[in-house]
Amino acid sequence: MKLLFNKNPKEICMKRVALVTGGIGGIGTAICKKLADAGHTVVTCDINAERADSWVADMKAQGYDFKVYICDVTNFDQCAEMAAKITAEVGPVDILVNNAGITRDAVFKKLSKVDWDLVLGTNLDSVYNITKQFCEGMTERGWGRVINMSSVNGQKGQFGQTNYSAAKAGMHGFTKALAQEVAKKGVTVNTISPGYIGTEMVMAIKEEVRNQIISTIPVGRLGTPEEIAELVAYLASNSGSFITGSNIAINGGLHMF
Ligand code: CAA
Ligand code: NAP
Repeated sequence: MKLLFNKNPKEICMKRVALVTGGIGGIGTAICKKLADAGHTVVTCDINAERADSWVADMKAQGYDFKVYICDVTNFDQCAEMAAKITAEVGPVDILVNNAGITRDAVFKKLSKVDWDLVLGTNLDSVYNITKQFCEGMTERGWGRVINMSSVNGQKGQFGQTNYSAAKAGMHGFTKALAQEVAKKGVTVNTISPGYIGTEMVMAIKEEVRNQIISTIPVGRLGTPEEIAELVAYLASNSGSFITGSNIAINGGLHMF
């Protein structure tokens, strides 16, 4: 494996292959850039081919060369097909960031079965569908990182989000169980629980409700995608090798435990 220097010349890092699901979204884009800045080869997958093309062009203009694989993470067969392509075209994936996610908020009384299934499928089933493709390769090679993007609302629950809170809470159980299975093989599995971050997902909340939420965040503002990406890059690095089975909260003090 090739040795190279990242932006901090004192720190030598290995060049790895990273897959970020939902990588063309707000947080995903920041993660892709941060991992690329750390010297890794980064690929992403997304469901929307049209948006992917314009994102790739935009990234190219900023000096990043990312490949997007079109894949619906709720579909196991598509995930398997994508994994085979990435492995053949780019190489085995060492760093997996399960980041794709959606919300379909409604009070439980109004929550449809369709929106329950869609949110559980995209935020939780996807973690099985994607991790299943890469985890064994990581353990065989003796190094790997699985980083699952949960949410503060999976920790504390949120009015109007029985579906999302259940899916994001489910990620913690998955993380802690898998972390125990693969720890001796050099693979870490962790969950990050961001609070409210300034992306389309949060901007879609009614302004009045959003402002009310912001007023309850002790630091007094939304987080930035870059703040989440910094944490992902740390967990993905060799320095993060003793952190496994953890959930790291990054929420401006919204939920302390
Ligand atoms: N706690 C207690 N009561 C609440 C409440 C809360 N947090 N929010 C709303 N209510 C009450 C309202 O005051 C209202 O009461 P009345 O009927 O007595 O007037 C009642 O519930 C209905 O509220 P709405 O008018 O808002 O109902 P709605 O059906 O139009 O909308 C909703 C419901 C879609 C859930 C809306 O309240 C909402 O968008 N809430 C925000 C949910 C949220 O935080 N989503 C996060 C999305 S981003 C994300 O998820 C990223 C992440 O990981 C952090
Ligand atoms: P975002 O901008 O909406 O990005 C999510 C990305 O996932 C989008 O590019 C979306 O594609 C993609 N995606 C959705 N369904 C998919 C599917 N079935 N298959 C493949 N890709 C799919 O949201 P974000 O704010 O960056 O959120 C990223 C992650 O962080 C999510 O898991 C979210 O739950 C979590 N999170 C966000 C916040 C926050 O405040 N923003 C807080 C805590 C946790 P399309 O847009 O093309 O559908």
